[in-house]
Amino acid sequence: MTRPKITAETLRAMKGQGQKIAALTAYDFPMTRLLDEVGVPLILVGDSLGMVVLGYPDTTQVTMAEMEHHVRAAARAKPRALLVADMPYDSYETVTSARENARRLVAAGAEAVKAEGGRSILEQARAIIAAGIPFCGHLGMLPQSVREEGGYHVKGKSEEEHRALVGDAEALVQAGAFAIVLELITPPVAKELTQRIPIPTIGIGAGPDCDGQILVTPDLLGMLPWYNLKHVKPRLNAAEQMRAVVKEWKQNVETLKAE
Ligand code: KIV
Repeated sequence: MTRPKITAETLRAMKGQGQKIAALTAYDFPMTRLLDEVGVPLILVGDSLGMVVLGYPDTTQVTMAEMEHHVRAAARAKPRALLVADMPYDSYETVTSARENARRLVAAGAEAVKAEGGRSILEQARAIIAAGIPFCGHLGMLPQSVREEGGYHVKGKSEEEHRALVGDAEALVQAGAFAIVLELITPPVAKELTQRIPIPTIGIGAGPDCDGQILVTPDLLGMLPWYNLKHVKPRLNAAEQMRAVVKEWKQNVETLKAE
């Protein structure tokens, strides 16, 4: 029996039923297919691909063409999961560019889009939703602003940041967002937001009380030993295992004798 396709509505219903949402990123066909086979309900083609696939120092250099390329690859897996694509840096500066670029990502195979910001991008979020595209918000530490912010800092520590987060989350709900990613937000503030709003919060480095959690899959698998992240403890040492297998195979090849 084939199980029904996951939609934005399914994720909202999961919050209603107190069912936690385990979300992960994927950037290509095999990873999307593997995550989908395990039943991950939300797969994000994140602009984190800039760092974990393309070797950029942060997400600000990722282009629409790169996002489309990876969304197409992921979409070929035809996941049951909701396939969400990040809107890259500079792709939603205006209402028109936001709507057009969201449509391009959908044409590439995305079923929903995510963009960073709250009230500052509300008109863009409304235009995307009015175009019939499910929209996921992203609050807290906004990786596309890392240069202006001078690093990845936890948000919600001051009363001003706390109030701003509440205002932004409520505005995104009013605009019609179906979920909000909360990145690097103090756990008590993430908990409060989760209790206040009717749509799912998906946390990353925001404590255990969000409606769901999301991780960058290569971080979870220990594929990137060059970074030391506080919010994720790799569950596998994939980099070490790959090195060992390749080393052994290389030695075998090098010691092969001609018959
Ligand atoms: O780009 C990404 O992978 C993300 C997650 C960290 C939520 O936005």
